[in-house]
Amino acid sequence: MKYESVNEVKKQLEEDIKNVSNISELNDLKVKYLGKKGLITELNQKIKDIPNEEKKEFGMCVNEVRNSFNEFYEEKKNKYETEILNKKLESEAIDISLPSTKVKRGSKHPVNRMIERIEDLFVSMGYDVVEGPELETDEYCFERLNLPKGHPARDMQDSFYITDEYLLRTQTSAVQARTLIANQDEPKPIRIIVPGKTYRKEDDATHSHQFCQCEGLVVDRLENHVSLADLKGTLEVFVKEVIGDNLDLRFRPSYFPFTEPSYEVDVTCFKCGGKGCSLCKDTGWIEILGAGIVHPNVLRMNGYDPEKWGGFAFGPGLERLTMFRYGIPDMRYLYTNDIRFLEEFDRKDDSDGIK
Ligand code: DAH
Repeated sequence: MKYESVNEVKKQLEEDIKNVSNISELNDLKVKYLGKKGLITELNQKIKDIPNEEKKEFGMCVNEVRNSFNEFYEEKKNKYETEILNKKLESEAIDISLPSTKVKRGSKHPVNRMIERIEDLFVSMGYDVVEGPELETDEYCFERLNLPKGHPARDMQDSFYITDEYLLRTQTSAVQARTLIANQDEPKPIRIIVPGKTYRKEDDATHSHQFCQCEGLVVDRLENHVSLADLKGTLEVFVKEVIGDNLDLRFRPSYFPFTEPSYEVDVTCFKCGGKGCSLCKDTGWIEILGAGIVHPNVLRMNGYDPEKWGGFAFGPGLERLTMFRYGIPDMRYLYTNDIRFLEEFDRKDDSDGIK
């Protein structure tokens, strides 16, 4: 090459290239040649001192050196980066053949299983699943259900009052009133179930201060004739699907302020099959829920005209149903959190294998 200065740089570059063995040396080389005071950069700066007629040729020579540097640089850069990446991937590879540390799998609580079962059944019959607050007002828990202050039937539900106005709800029936009120401006047919926790100041072998209920409410226009027969039919399907086949149902007249007529519903004792035993106190029957035809006062107080609307309601306690379904002999098992008991329900799928 005609220009000594360019030649020198070219030769040196050829030498230097041989000694590059990693990415940091490559980057050093870039600085040496193309940095602010780099050798190729300096050559570029010389162009201005070259006589005009030679400028072009000189420039081309410098370009040639720069191009060969760039070519070398790109190729090596790719190579080194790929190497680095491969090494990283290798070191981070997960050995999936190793057994993992055992994670202890929890299980669904039997009462929750029961709730899901009931929800599935009623949703399949066109009901909505509705929730309500556990911290409830006296108004919704009692007054709007035809239980004014001082009503003797309040005595059946020993309550945890937080203030004069607020209490832990004693019954999911409170959501009957809430649902009716929510629709009072434009009354429409209602078909709901309300599973949830309830609280009463009770604590003995067969009662705990917190338990679960699942309210049911059906309200329709009177011309659709929702009757006691519908209530019976519904409860028959309910018992069959939720507890099991071959159980008889018995309706006993009873009293609840929010229904008229009212019933307590019994099923054949699951333990003795109706012959009589200690569980059913020799009656052959076990009570599972209260039910009845919605009281006109409840409809009226919550914005539904009882001359136009009517229906039925029911409210089982869920612990008993759970005990029946799974043959659990003592309610306390449900709430003492004994892992050995809960593990009985640790099945892979959600079905409990009972039909
Ligand atoms: N709420 C009642 C209780 O806790 C049970 C009940 C009775 C619910 C009759 C109802 C009903 O919906 O119609 O004792």
